[in-house]
This record gives sequence, structure tokens and C-alpha cells, in this order.
Amino acid sequence: MNEKKAWWKEAVIYQIYPRSFADSNGDGIGDIPGITAHLPYLKDLGIDVIWLSPVYKSPNDDNGYDISDYRDIMDEFGTMADFDEMLAKAHQLGLKIVMDLVVNHTSDEHAWFVESRKSKDNPYRDYYIWKEGKNGGAPNNWQSAFSGSAWELDDATGMYYLHCFSKKQADLNWENPKVRDEVFDMMTWWCDKGIDGFRMDVISMISKDPAYPDGEVKDGIYGDFGPYVCNGPHVHEYLQEMNRRVLSRYDIMTVGEAVGVTIDEAKKYASNDGKELNMVFHFEHVDVDATSTPVLGKWGYEHPHLRPFREILNKWQLELEGIAWGSLYLDNHDQPRAVSRFGNDAPEWRVLSAKMLGTLIHMMKGTPYVYQGEELGMTNMVFRSKEDFRDIEEINAYRQYVEEHHMISSEEMLRCFSAVARDNARTPMQWDDSENAGFTTGTPWIPVNPNYTTINAKAAVNDPDSVFHYYQKLIRLRHENPIIVYGTFRPLLLESETVYAYERILDDQRLIVACNWTDQPQPCPVFDGTDAPDLISNYETHVAGQLQPYEARVVLV
Ligand code: GLC
Ligand code: CA
Repeated sequence: MNEKKAWWKEAVIYQIYPRSFADSNGDGIGDIPGITAHLPYLKDLGIDVIWLSPVYKSPNDDNGYDISDYRDIMDEFGTMADFDEMLAKAHQLGLKIVMDLVVNHTSDEHAWFVESRKSKDNPYRDYYIWKEGKNGGAPNNWQSAFSGSAWELDDATGMYYLHCFSKKQADLNWENPKVRDEVFDMMTWWCDKGIDGFRMDVISMISKDPAYPDGEVKDGIYGDFGPYVCNGPHVHEYLQEMNRRVLSRYDIMTVGEAVGVTIDEAKKYASNDGKELNMVFHFEHVDVDATSTPVLGKWGYEHPHLRPFREILNKWQLELEGIAWGSLYLDNHDQPRAVSRFGNDAPEWRVLSAKMLGTLIHMMKGTPYVYQGEELGMTNMVFRSKEDFRDIEEINAYRQYVEEHHMISSEEMLRCFSAVARDNARTPMQWDDSENAGFTTGTPWIPVNPNYTTINAKAAVNDPDSVFHYYQKLIRLRHENPIIVYGTFRPLLLESETVYAYERILDDQRLIVACNWTDQPQPCPVFDGTDAPDLISNYETHVAGQLQPYEARVVLV
């Protein structure tokens, strides 16, 4: 074996979106004591690391991704004492905790920004990105990721500040060494507390093109900032400095959310030389269903075909080999539910296709991420009216496209939301079949998916054929078989339109994996001539030369 061993290469990560995980005090909002109470459930699932979406002090314009104090806990989630207790209990159980690090921007209510906006000569002025307007308007045509201009005019000084996300998320100016000092001090403070790593929010966006040029106009209204804010001129320099000053001093793991990352860039962010991060999330495979319709942009959708999806994942597997480490995911708090999107959430196929997708991802090379509820095969929601959604991205898109520019009907927009909106992932965790799915005794902050009476953790834990038990096994197999962690990836059956097959090679071992992407039987010769028993499969019996609907099968020879 030529791959260098590391605990974070062997780990399976479980992401918690605290607001929607478990409410301990009946206010309808998930919280830290709710997480602590469910740690044994996660231990039972077998995961190694919890990635916590932000729990810091925040006015919650973007559910905690707008931080007003990095060294305090959001009131609704509890106190620092609650946090310390959760961390200690997790460690007692052998679980690690990775924090979300949101440092591309802060809340406009952060003390730095409150100062910064006061005057042009305030000591905090250069903590943020301020520009004069142009031709009576914003400094350029960039659209924020949450619709509308990426610039906000601030009355106090008559200048604009940049916000790549909501106007309550002001972009920090990383060119200012004081900003870097502040961020690195804060990170050190958390590391000294004993946390086990960072997931770095939109970390590929911290260095902007200093020319701030107009972007390409795609929807007829605003320009695309992508090429000018992603993978900017100093991003690797800043991450190497972060690594030298903080990361390299602790035994922690790091994963960068790398919006706009290409494979060549990923090789730098996550290089085996260890100078920057351990791994990054790329978006190519989850952008595969976004249509090119300009009005719809990310809101377009179509059921993803296997070929383009497989081409993307294979390319990342092959090109990172031996150079950089990868991450594996289909679900997170920004994506619709994988079983609804890539599988089939009809009652007869939901469990089978969720297991198939889990197999496909968990047998690949890289560190797998499970998003809360994925292990239950939780599905998308149906959004029927404006009252049903909560996400600022949806609220703003609805306003811009439906109400202001009349580019799409309300019905069509709601159909798009039901397919791809982030709120699909944010409905409450379904614990049992009692009222509100056992998530809260109060009124949940966002409606519970009505299918909780059948899809819930209690039922899944009691059913040996559930998605939960299948995930438990996938995770255990990874822990027991070095080939699943370290084996080299080789694609198979590239001519198939319907079967995703590959093998992993380590020393004299060979792992063969095949997954049927469809609800029909499909030809699949990869197991012909082997009589080795299954390592795992979602079917008990097989048909020679075929895969049954949504069948997944893994064999070790
Ligand atoms: C990341 C987060 C997302 C958030 C955005 C702004 O993409 O995952 O939830 O809205 O950054 O912080
Ligand atoms: Ca609560």
C-alpha cells in the first residue's frame, strides 16, 4: 500500500443541522442538549465524527451561517456549558466533533461590522470590503448567491459593502492581515477547547479578484461573480498561512467547502503534502441536474442521468489518486434529499434505492459524509405555498423571480422548490411516529415531513432490513476492510447507461461494486465467474448476469 494512513481517511462523518435535529425544551428549535441526548444513537450507527453546522451566536438570517460572535453559542441552541458537556460526552463515547468555520463573512451584527460601518476611518473599516458606487449604482453587477445585488449601500458613509450571500452576511477582507490574525486566534481558541476539526464554509471564496469586474449576465438581471470570487489569487497563500499558524499544531481534520473548485484546484487545496486542508467538497455531481435555463439557474431540475453523474465521480476518483484526498457525499443541508433526487422515493423503491445510493458512495475512495436522516432514507418535502418554506435563499428567489420580475409562476417555483430547495434537507429529523416526529413537544420551526409516521428512526432501528441497518453495515465494513479506505479505484462497465460499476484494488485483494440506477433489471456481467459471498447487498438472492431494480452488490475476491 502506498497511501499514507490517517484517522480522517478511515472515518465516517455524520453532519448535524442542529436547528432541525432534536429539540430538548419544547420551543420548536433543535438545540445542543437535544444533540447530547442522541449521541448514543450516533454511536450505534457507528460513525466516527460529527460535523456540526454552526452553533455560534447569530441573528439567524441564514440559520447560523451569519455569525455575530464566534466565541459564544446561539441563545436558542443553549450555552457554552451545554456545548462543553456535549463535547465531553461525545469524546467519552469515542466520537469526535468538527465545527463549521464560517469566515468568508460575518453577520452585519458582528461587533467588527458594527464598528466598520461607522466611518471611513474606523479602525475596523478594512475588516470588510467597501467600495464607492459607480454611475449612481453598485460598484459592479454581481448577483448575491441569495438573489439581488451582492452590494449594499450603507447610509452612514455612502459606500457599498460586498455580501456574496445575504446583505446580513458581510464579506470579510482577507487581504487585511488583522482579519487573518483575528480568525486564526479564534480558531486556536476552539482547538484549545478540544474540538476535532473544521468544515470550512465557502472557503474557496475568501480571496477576490482585486479588479472587481462585472460578471456575465445570465438571467437578464445580474452578473455572475463565480470566476472573480472562487479560487482567487491569494486563497492558497491564506490557507497555507492558516495551516502553519493553526492547523498543523493540532491533530484535527479539515474539509473545505470549495464552491467553484476544479480538480486542478482541489489538488492544491487537499494535496497530500498537507500544506493546506485534508480534503474539499466539490459540487460537480450535485450540479448535474441544474438545467441551463437562465431564469431557473440552480432552480432547474431533471432526474439525473447516470452517464454524466458517473463521468464526474469517476473523474474525481481517478484524478485525485495518489495526489489529494477526496470527500464523498450526496446529501447535506444545502441539497435536496438524495433518495428523492438520485434514487426513487416511491414507497416500493425508497428503501432499495436509498441503500443502492449508500453503497455507491460508501464503497468509493475518500471520506464519506452522512447527512442527518439520510441513514433513514428521509425524503424531500412538498412545498405547497409561501408559508411552507423558511430558507432565505428560497424567500429571496421567490421574491425576485415570481413577485418582482414575473419570470416564472408561483406554482412552477414551488415545484422547483419541492425538487431542489435547501429546506428539503431541513425539515425536522424524524425520530418516531409520535406528534411532530418526536422532534419537539412544541411547534416545530419548519413543518415536519408528513411521512414521519412510516419513515422514522425508531421504526428503522427496530427493522433489520431498514436503511439504518444497511448504513450501519456500510460503516462497519469500511472500518474492517482497509481496501475500502485505501484501495485504488478503477471504473468498470463504462458503456452501460444504467449500471454504475467499479472495482477497488489493494495488494492482492479486489472489491467489485455494482449498482443499478434504474427500476428495471439491467445486464451486469461483473460478477460472472466469481462465487465469493457478498460483502453487502440490498438483495438476498441474485440473478446471474443481471442486477435487479436498484440492486447494489459488493463482492470481495
Ligand atoms: C455555505 C453553507 C450554506 C450557507 C452559505 C453561506 O454554502 O453551506 O448553508 O448559506 O455557505 O454561508
Ligand atoms: Ca430548543
